[in-house]
Amino acid sequence: MSSPITIVPVAIEHSFSPDDDLAAIICEHLSQMSWPDDGNGLLDGDIVVITSKVVAKTEGQIFAATSRDDAIREQTVRIVATKQTPRGLTTISQTKHGLVLAAAGVDASNTDEGTVVLLPEDSDASAAALRTSIQDHFGVRVGVVITDTMGRPWRLGVTDVAIGAAGVQVLDDFTGRTDPYGNTLEMTVVAIADEIAAAVELATGKLAGAPLAVVRGLGHHLTADAARARDVVRPLEEDLFWLGAAEAMVEGAKHAVGQRRTIRHFTDDHVDAVVIERAIADAVLAPAPHHTEPFRFIVLRADNSHHASGRTQLLDAMREAWIADLAGIDGKSPEEIERRVARGDLLRTAPVVVIPIVDLAAGAHTYPDDRRNAAERDLFMVAGGAAVENFMIRLAAEGLGSAWISSTIFAPDVVREQFGLGQQAMPLGAVAIGHPHAPGKDRPPRNPDDYLIEP
Ligand SMILES: Cc1cc2nc3c(=O)[nH]c(=O)nc-3n(C[C@H](O)[C@H](O)[C@H](O)COP(=O)(O)O)c2cc1C
Repeated sequence: MSSPITIVPVAIEHSFSPDDDLAAIICEHLSQMSWPDDGNGLLDGDIVVITSKVVAKTEGQIFAATSRDDAIREQTVRIVATKQTPRGLTTISQTKHGLVLAAAGVDASNTDEGTVVLLPEDSDASAAALRTSIQDHFGVRVGVVITDTMGRPWRLGVTDVAIGAAGVQVLDDFTGRTDPYGNTLEMTVVAIADEIAAAVELATGKLAGAPLAVVRGLGHHLTADAARARDVVRPLEEDLFWLGAAEAMVEGAKHAVGQRRTIRHFTDDHVDAVVIERAIADAVLAPAPHHTEPFRFIVLRADNSHHASGRTQLLDAMREAWIADLAGIDGKSPEEIERRVARGDLLRTAPVVVIPIVDLAAGAHTYPDDRRNAAERDLFMVAGGAAVENFMIRLAAEGLGSAWISSTIFAPDVVREQFGLGQQAMPLGAVAIGHPHAPGKDRPPRNPDDYLIEP
């Protein structure tokens, strides 16, 4: 249904205070004003729109504020985003009313110096009370909207929105209705009360001293339902933007380490080579001795026949070396050896296997004695461990699972021989990589006290 809409701003020259009876002031002005259509009062179906500022003032939401920041903090339930600007700190937060807006709705404009005006405690209740008074006074059915001004993400400029409503449809759900082309609308919900608020602001203007207006022509949006402006607030679980971008990145960084779990079961889905490259690029940022970057990687993919045969050859050779240790050094029986070796081998089936290597030739110092050479080797090995952890954290952040398997550490010569590496190349096991079959299990946060050695 479309119809002409008339918006009549009503100037009120009055400095509002808690001593005022707002409903009486509104009714008095509406009775005395001259109507553009020469009518003489409210009509059935009119919507009375009033700014939250005067509602808040008459409800006593005026506070002496030594610091506006303190008032903002007091009104804030949840900080969404903050940004340091030349004018100070901008805070976007959710208030106790559920609204997400700048400065928690704390306003230092249009109020005496040294005071701030907070939002009404319950704007829907305020709207309902005003509606009852106005209807009783004029004997007609009206709606009431209480407005406030807000910025919008992605759009410059502010518009007015409804923060309180009574007797007015706040949302109009078009889902299931058909457009002129015969398409069924699937998810169009129009924020009627917000549109009314914005239209009224256009008619009254910010500086014109008209905190009140009457909207005529939208009677079809009056409702007997207990529609509330509070219902326009998007539930947190449906909000894709519940945290500012910078805050979300900080939050993500905090969780990056905890997200990595050893994953031993993978799907057959293709692992993107670019992701492995990005993980390597992160791996080599690990701290390492003497300003070296001694990290090297061999990538073996299951879906590359050359890689796959090289991988099988390596694993077969390592198995032979392992069998030789089990028989020759450990003295295990053939049955025991058979049982050990027959265990499922993740490295044969994972979509990608990466062999991390730390190369002592990349700058390890040499000493005349074994003790210091061994310590020097440890330096490089622990740096290699840090690199592998970086690597796996990045894989996890990219949605890939990984498992760090010891194997090559026990058979370094097999790896050196197969890939033509020098004696100083130290393989650091092998990392099996793929898309996780199931997400890694959550684990409780650790208590650092359990890991501290008291001096
Ligand atoms: C150097 C090293 C060698 C590992 N070797 C194996 C291995 O041979 N087989 C295996 O299943 N897991 C291996 N792991 C993975 C550990 O079992 C795993 O990290 C541990 O259970 C903790 O679980 P999380 O990685 O999910 O935190 C190894 C881990 C490290 C650091």
